[in-house]
Amino acid sequence: MTEITIRKPDDWHVHLRDGEVLKSVAGFTAACFARAIVMPNLAPPVTTAREAVAYRARVEAAVTGHTFTPLMTCYLTDNTDAKDLIAGFKDGIFTAVKLYPAHATTNSAAGVTSFDKVQGVLEAMAENDMRLLVHGELPKAEIDVFDREKAFIDEILLPLLDRVPSLKIVMEHVTTSHGVDVVRAHKGRLGATITPQHLLFNRNALFNGGLRPHFYCLPVLKREEHRLALRKAATSGEPGFFLGTDSAPHLRHLKEAACGCAGVFNAPAALAAYLRVFEEENALDKFEAFASLNGPEFYGLPVNEERVTFRKKPQFICDGVPVDKMGEIHPMFGGGEVDWSMA
Ligand code: NCD
Ligand code: ZN
Ligand code: ZN
Repeated sequence: MTEITIRKPDDWHVHLRDGEVLKSVAGFTAACFARAIVMPNLAPPVTTAREAVAYRARVEAAVTGHTFTPLMTCYLTDNTDAKDLIAGFKDGIFTAVKLYPAHATTNSAAGVTSFDKVQGVLEAMAENDMRLLVHGELPKAEIDVFDREKAFIDEILLPLLDRVPSLKIVMEHVTTSHGVDVVRAHKGRLGATITPQHLLFNRNALFNGGLRPHFYCLPVLKREEHRLALRKAATSGEPGFFLGTDSAPHLRHLKEAACGCAGVFNAPAALAAYLRVFEEENALDKFEAFASLNGPEFYGLPVNEERVTFRKKPQFICDGVPVDKMGEIHPMFGGGEVDWSMA
């Protein structure tokens, strides 16, 4: 097959940032996705409906010329106001809530420190059928960085499923076979997004001939056995698994540094990367489920009516996306070619 036509995909996990970076990166997402779940980990984070309305307007201003709907998220803190949150959800301002365990990843310092503090908010969300999105890592210094997803599942996620019995949760950027298994074991209550980098690379990519900061993201790339489990899950067509790029732009000089930022800017190459995986797995017939059907189904949202065609036709990915007066951002596969293009 050298061509595939499907309902227009959505990106269920993306960082569009703010200011000049937003202006430089948003078009890449808006060009090929109909909707995207926009992460709230700005500095300071998006924690109220009012802030989300203002941020959404800045995103919309950055994507003029595209038919693209940003779906906003609220950054859960120990002090989240359930009334503001649920009113924002009912008004169509918020689509979901994002839980960052404090200090787990980029701009997560304001994240949740104790579930007792947010129990009421989580119950209100369950009552109103609002999804909780989690960064699934337990950021304890004594836990090996490669084991933090499993620790999160055992110590936080499984107890949380019991604590708030009807809450639906998305494990964002799942990276291990443990994550895949737990999603399968809780059909309907748990979903998971999977990134292109976790499908294409294992942790060797971080050390290939030297330290490779552009492959560094959180959760960090894992062993090959986990990558293979993710590929099986993504290409299975099972409703629990859907597309979420976790495109996370950082300026080049902040990644190529003594203490480099976590995040892979994959938006310019994400769809081509996913298509390569589905082609390699002989599963292009399952791509629409992963990219365009399973996500809306889990969120209880309508699917997109528009159709798009992807062709097996090489596409050059630029080496650096300029950001006015600040530098540039190096995309995944930047300076090279990918095999698939949008028609
Ligand atoms: C993300 C970022 O840069 O905002 N980084 C990353 O490595 N994935 C944060 C996140 O999604 O955890
Ligand atoms: Zn995350
Ligand atoms: Zn992310």
